[in-house]
Amino acid sequence: MAATEPTETAKLVYPVPPAFAAQARLRRDDYDRLYAESLADPDGFWRRVADRIDWITPPTQVRDVSFDVEDFHIRWYADGVLNASVNCLDRQLPMRGDKVALLFEPDDPNTPVQRITYRELHARVCRLANALRNLGVAKGDRITIYLPMVPEAVVAMLACARIGAIHSVIFGGFAPRSIADRIADCTSKLVITADEGLRGGKRVPLKANVDAALAMPGTNSVETVLVVRHTGAAVDMQMPRDRWMEAVVEGQPDTCEPEPMNAEDPLFILYTSGSTGKPKGVLHTTGGYLTYVAYTHECIFDLREDDIFWCTADVGWVTGHSYTVYGPLANGATAVVFEGVPNHPDVSRFWQVIDKHGVTLFYTAPTAIRALMREGDDPVRGTSRRSLRLLGTVGEPINPEAWRWYHDVVGDARCPIIDTWWQTETGGALITPLPGAIDQKPGSAMTPFFGIRPALVDAEGRLLEGEATGNLVLLDSWPGQMRTVYGDHARFIDTYFRTYPGMYFTGDGCHRDADGDYWITGRVDDVINVSGHRIGTAEVESALVSHPKVAEAAVVGFPHDIKGQGIYAYVTLLAGEAETDALRAELVGHVRKEIGPTATPDHVQWAPGLPKTRSGKIMRRILRKIAEDAPEQLGDTSTLADPSVVDSLVRNRRGA
Ligand code: WTA
Repeated sequence: MAATEPTETAKLVYPVPPAFAAQARLRRDDYDRLYAESLADPDGFWRRVADRIDWITPPTQVRDVSFDVEDFHIRWYADGVLNASVNCLDRQLPMRGDKVALLFEPDDPNTPVQRITYRELHARVCRLANALRNLGVAKGDRITIYLPMVPEAVVAMLACARIGAIHSVIFGGFAPRSIADRIADCTSKLVITADEGLRGGKRVPLKANVDAALAMPGTNSVETVLVVRHTGAAVDMQMPRDRWMEAVVEGQPDTCEPEPMNAEDPLFILYTSGSTGKPKGVLHTTGGYLTYVAYTHECIFDLREDDIFWCTADVGWVTGHSYTVYGPLANGATAVVFEGVPNHPDVSRFWQVIDKHGVTLFYTAPTAIRALMREGDDPVRGTSRRSLRLLGTVGEPINPEAWRWYHDVVGDARCPIIDTWWQTETGGALITPLPGAIDQKPGSAMTPFFGIRPALVDAEGRLLEGEATGNLVLLDSWPGQMRTVYGDHARFIDTYFRTYPGMYFTGDGCHRDADGDYWITGRVDDVINVSGHRIGTAEVESALVSHPKVAEAAVVGFPHDIKGQGIYAYVTLLAGEAETDALRAELVGHVRKEIGPTATPDHVQWAPGLPKTRSGKIMRRILRKIAEDAPEQLGDTSTLADPSVVDSLVRNRRGA
């Protein structure tokens, strides 16, 4: 099926930069050898990897897994005992006590930076952990964390881990209804929040949102609300429920006996929205998760002792959990915690922060790259970025246009790019080039990480060999895999293991090229079937964005009398480009040329803005309803970063 193959312009290979390979932890032969070993002897392989963890009782068992729904279980290192916070803090103290663990860059560039050493972070975590114990929090209790991207968020997560409480971090952009649902689902006992958050100079009323959430039914499990004083705004404190953080930690000892945790004891719950239904509480456990994120963080980012690592994801998402907090700290790295947004006070903020802190490893999302690409090269070229040695992306397919801009302009054609494919469910990255080992192709996540066995299946679940396009499944487990949907184990098994018996179904579509490299095409629910031809929306988008006048595009299917489904494209032009019918026709022709006639968009609607969640994901559900001309079914648009873009899209809908 030619229509689902990568576009011609994407097929260029970018070899590993020789200077990078010369210094790299892992080169091509290492990858080949270790990958083969990891499949031939998973037990031996993952046993050796687990040596990087400080165990209270080292595990004698390694892998104990069955994906068979009749005898379903996933256990890793099941008899091991450890504490995650000890691995992230205590064991760094002898060698790295004075090393900076967290480098806090506030929203306003004129607010002083905070450099928090491992010693200081350890003390702060212990003080809060003691305070939580005094408030009656015990192993297994659920704690909700609703904080801005500030060091206290990391302190709160690790304090929970210290005493065996299960944290559930809720992204600061969520509204009271979503907070209430998540608190009710896990019957959380305590909430940690702040007076306000700050994002791009705008204040976010976090405490007021918590108050509103706790006034909703189902939330009376919450006994205590701890409030971090952040902006200093006046907030309504309801006694005795609400307590100031500074007051409860004051006078607490700066050491705290860690709770011994079984490897399979829960570490955290993280809610993720499915395409329908209520959010799923993805549950990760302690031993396997920590082992996997620490190991992948070291390998895929080619981590060195003096690196300054910056993952721009908020700790409200899994990327922040795994690659701002647990992975970097378990490896004794220095991690940047950035409170702000890429375009405040101006669109060169990312690049300025990189220069200010000498960031060496930079990890962000394609949506941010595209937004910044739209602003042109000047805001980037005005900064040095010499400190950078590696770039990464995560969260969605990156179109080759954005990839090349990231590579050529941001990385000055010097730095390899790792396009890391993974999910909240997977805990850490599963498919990604290793930067010193694997050549890159713009738009491809390339190769499986050690122990990962990706495969492609057709709709009937038949395994596809060689070059193929199909649904991405994983044939075996890895230590960082989620263990259950909190409180609903049946939903876990039904969602991921029943579609294709014996396999984990990712929900993603994927193409494997003739070299065996993987190209994630997007969620399978975003694949359009036009006249019997499958077309990935991501591919059409990629083709549109490869046009020099296009900044961003989102493509959805809509019901079509003859073809089954038609293609509806929402296109955002680069600043200053005119929205003309001639350009519309040109874009349709461009897509036909890039992919083929089956991918011809039926409609192109100009979209000055696209409906995005606050984490930057395009809400295709809404675009599908607009394309279907069913605006009355739009559903809840309140979680959008900017709900007003929807009205404008509905008003300007093309007569379909
Ligand atoms: C998508 C984020 C293409 C994919 C870590 C997946 C990607 C979903 C990539 C998970 C990538 C993530 N290339 N698509 N490199 N990374 N995705 O749970 O559709 O927020 O299923 O986890 O994002 O999103 P989540």
